[in-house]
Amino acid sequence: MALQESSDVFEAGHDHEQVVFANDPATGLRAIVAIHSTALGPALGGTRFFPYASTAAALSDVLDLSRGMSYKAALAGLDLGGGKAVIIGDPQQLRSEALFRAYGRFVQSLGGRYYTACDVGTFSPDMDDIARECDYVTGRTVAHGGAGDSSVLTAYGVYQGLRAAAQFTWGTTALAGRTVGVAGVGKVGHHLVTHLLEEGASVVVTDVSPAALDRIREEHPAVRVVASAAELVAEPLDVYAPCAMGGALTDDVVEALSASIVCGAANNQLAHPGIEKSLEERGILYAPDYCVNSGGLIQVADELDPAGFSFERAQQRAAGIYDTTYSVFELAASEGVPPAHAADRLAERRMRDVGRLRGIWLS
Ligand SMILES: NC(=O)c1ccc[n+]([C@@H]2O[C@H](COP(=O)([O-])OP(=O)(O)OC[C@H]3O[C@@H](n4cnc5c(N)ncnc54)[C@H](O)[C@@H]3O)[C@@H](O)[C@H]2O)c1
Repeated sequence: MALQESSDVFEAGHDHEQVVFANDPATGLRAIVAIHSTALGPALGGTRFFPYASTAAALSDVLDLSRGMSYKAALAGLDLGGGKAVIIGDPQQLRSEALFRAYGRFVQSLGGRYYTACDVGTFSPDMDDIARECDYVTGRTVAHGGAGDSSVLTAYGVYQGLRAAAQFTWGTTALAGRTVGVAGVGKVGHHLVTHLLEEGASVVVTDVSPAALDRIREEHPAVRVVASAAELVAEPLDVYAPCAMGGALTDDVVEALSASIVCGAANNQLAHPGIEKSLEERGILYAPDYCVNSGGLIQVADELDPAGFSFERAQQRAAGIYDTTYSVFELAASEGVPPAHAADRLAERRMRDVGRLRGIWLS
């Protein structure tokens, strides 16, 4: 990678506090930690282990992801800032205890400005390895005092966000008799389907993984499976829940959707700026992704409580996603903007109003 190329990425309109490169040739570790904001507290965000095509691509991703974490934590009412890390390389080939421990020493060197967690390509046992060298780790296994799999409360939060969207759209939180399309029945999508069926909704799903579909068919025979996301989008749906990869809401998808509500777990659902306006023009209520999918962050952040992790406390906090989502819709309606813009405004307001309190000196 040319140094110029990376510095171009960094200068392109980003407002990050700190970006750190870490290198340990013996273990193959090449990592970047990006701290977007510590206005509300230490930055928390997962470590993505991914075979990026270039260092510039990795840098671009970590800058975007860390910024998103600032907004997610702010809107979730947490005293946390936004950060994220990437380890560059193929996790299948590079994963080792030594690599994660080397990474842990670099995270430790940041002195608590950044707390890490799981993301794509990293798992709770990896966090246990990192924690052998570092005090600033969440998402550890339950056996090591951690919160374990964060998809449980992510799905619960999406479900709460969906209830708020139903109340706003139909005047009732009830989902019985509604048809919900879930694209991606992995860790989060799978738990979401369980909540929906318990509510009496009809559920249609799709996934590219035959194993994921087998699992859902086995556990929930009532679920109908369709062959692709394109087919799902063309179904008569009341709600569309993207729970796979980012960029699910393209111009074509918005055009084809019959659903009144979009509410799902996937990060960065809007394929490009302006899609939020197209959704609004078509009369589709979009529950902003980072607003409704913050349950996992709430779950791992609870590990930082001095008394240790409490699932009940974290779940209670994640239940608040209902009120937060409803406030986003209300602000959007009163200010005449799409919900995605209203969510940004609320998050930015909290970062500014609460963040400035640190300027009041305490002995
Ligand atoms: N796990 C969490 O706590 C959490 C928190 C916040 C946001 N998210 C986001 O939610 C989404 C799902 O996360 P997850 O943890 O369930 O991941 P996962 O990998 O367990 O599940 C994703 C599923 O989507 C399927 N998939 C991939 N491409 C697809 C496609 N084109 N069409 C249909 N299905 C496809 C995969 O086969 C997989 O079963 C991701 O975007 C993730 O970033 C997850």
